[in-house]
Amino acid sequence: MEVDDEKVLAGRAAAGHVRAGQRLALGTGSTTSFAIRALAEKFPGGDQLSIVASSVATERLATELGLPVRPLEPGDHFDLMIDGADEVAPTLALTKGGGGALFREKFLARLSQELVIAVDHTKLVSKLGTHHPIPIEIVPFARAKLLHQLTERGFSPRLRADRTSGGPVLTDNGNEILDLYPENGVDDPARLDRELRVMPGVIETGIFVGLAHRIYVGLPDGTVQEILPSNTSA
Ligand code: A5P
Repeated sequence: MEVDDEKVLAGRAAAGHVRAGQRLALGTGSTTSFAIRALAEKFPGGDQLSIVASSVATERLATELGLPVRPLEPGDHFDLMIDGADEVAPTLALTKGGGGALFREKFLARLSQELVIAVDHTKLVSKLGTHHPIPIEIVPFARAKLLHQLTERGFSPRLRADRTSGGPVLTDNGNEILDLYPENGVDDPARLDRELRVMPGVIETGIFVGLAHRIYVGLPDGTVQEILPSNTSA
């Protein structure tokens, strides 16, 4: 089974978790897009759902598939958010932001009663920062200073560049992304998240601690593993 097939399985499992009448936040990325496709099949026209998207790309896909997406409203809270991840640690701490949507993803996750993450088996890691860099969204003006400070602190930061133009990737918020490569991974994700977020010019980090409630993992044998915060498999 290919990794993409595992993503399809995990995405479908996450969509299977959605009930009619729910307020739903949608993440970003290839696995989430499989969940969105499954949702569009399950709720044709989407009128039984109230959906807010974490990116322009997700909004576009959902709309194309007939799922109406609305803007964020003042009193918004969500029953459920479905999203992917770049790394999932045994504690269910996550690295996210490979698709650059980390600010909106974390913003919506904090407003959601339940965050359901769908991944393929390659995303399970023993420690964050070992298989994927840790992305942070930054204000472009602060880039030079932050690159210097983060290099000094041993994070080997790299400005995320567009493969075609070579210029900086800009987020949907008009900001830039630095990818951090901690030498031996991240021992204390919550602490690193705090330390990075107080640096002037840092908008948000892709470290999600204590936010994920349920992980669906597509496995090479074609099954889906469900992991809950207690680390018990259901
Ligand atoms: C988007 O910014 C990310 O947080 C994605 O959820 C993450 O990169 C996983 O993406 P894939 O599902 O494409 O692997």
